[in-house]
Amino acid sequence: MKTINLGLSGLQVPVIAVGCMRINKLDASEASAFVKTALDLGANFFDHADIYAAGASEKIFAKAIDMKPAVREKVIIQSKCGIRPGKAFDFSKDHILKSVEGSLKRLKTEYLDVLLLHRPDALVEPEEVAEAFGILQSSGKVRHFGVSNQNPMQINLLKKYVKQPLVANQLQLSITNCTMISQGVHNNMGDEFAVSRDGSVLDFCRLHDITIQPWSPFQYGFFKGVFLDNPEFPELNTKINEIAKKYGVTNTTIALAWLLRHPAKMQPVTGTMNAKRLKECVKATEITITRDEWYEIFLAAGNILP
Ligand SMILES: NC(=O)c1ccc[n+]([C@@H]2O[C@H](COP(=O)([O-])OP(=O)(O)OC[C@H]3O[C@@H](n4cnc5c(N)ncnc54)[C@H](OP(=O)(O)O)[C@@H]3O)[C@@H](O)[C@H]2O)c1
Repeated sequence: MKTINLGLSGLQVPVIAVGCMRINKLDASEASAFVKTALDLGANFFDHADIYAAGASEKIFAKAIDMKPAVREKVIIQSKCGIRPGKAFDFSKDHILKSVEGSLKRLKTEYLDVLLLHRPDALVEPEEVAEAFGILQSSGKVRHFGVSNQNPMQINLLKKYVKQPLVANQLQLSITNCTMISQGVHNNMGDEFAVSRDGSVLDFCRLHDITIQPWSPFQYGFFKGVFLDNPEFPELNTKINEIAKKYGVTNTTIALAWLLRHPAKMQPVTGTMNAKRLKECVKATEITITRDEWYEIFLAAGNILP
């Protein structure tokens, strides 16, 4: 599997990250088989969050991989904190520290390679975040830090206090959820595509060496379903299937190849729990679609050029 630098962490990571949000839908033996396939493919970067399946996803993963020191050294584990489901978002020092303790226990590890702040907390006190990150780093419990779903000003506010580089920003991005790309194309126009919803986060992350990790790369809307083979997207599927045929790969591969063709050097986080699909995802790292094919897919998804 090809690798990229994860921001300024010094870590080389596989281009495809394996999201574990849905691992709780597998039974124990299915989960072991899935994790084994991932490792065989070189997909040894696993994305977690304290809240996935209320903590069960981290536990299931640790069991599936049979976590022990020799195994731990071979994998890169990222988790997230900062959401208290249904109650609040919480970047307080106490919550961050408690959340990490919980993740470490469930994952049966002494450290996280990467910790992300999951979703912006309206009441964030960046001094507290900085304190928490300092404690976690000096105790060896977390090696690198990043954010998720944050805009440039939110990141800049954190950067004023946090000493560690913020190495990743995990953002919702797929062919059908790509306002962060289409806005740039329409910049300064009077149409609705020109509305900036994210403060030019794509260019900001490129400028500051923050790796964008697209989440839900196959979903449309907010977990509405998969756009591939979906009759609601006839033109898009015809175009993706046509390009897939040309390269002799599946539509899943092309949907990810589209994200990887963008020069921002992103690390998509896939959510499939199907070993065959994961192979198709990894295959995307071997394909470079052309500039024209990238734009054809962009337009077939309903985007327009000004
Ligand atoms: N930071 C955040 O706020 C945030 C939010 C959401 C998710 N995430 C992370 O992102 C990861 C991915 O999210 P996601 O699971 O929503 O992403 P996704 O990869 O877009 O969706 C995966 C889901 O789509 C299904 N699927 C059906 N057809 C598919 C096809 N042709 N190709 C691929 N998948 C297909 C999969 O089923 P099968 O399992 O049967 O293949 C699976 O249930 C999560 O695991 C999590 O780590 C982060």
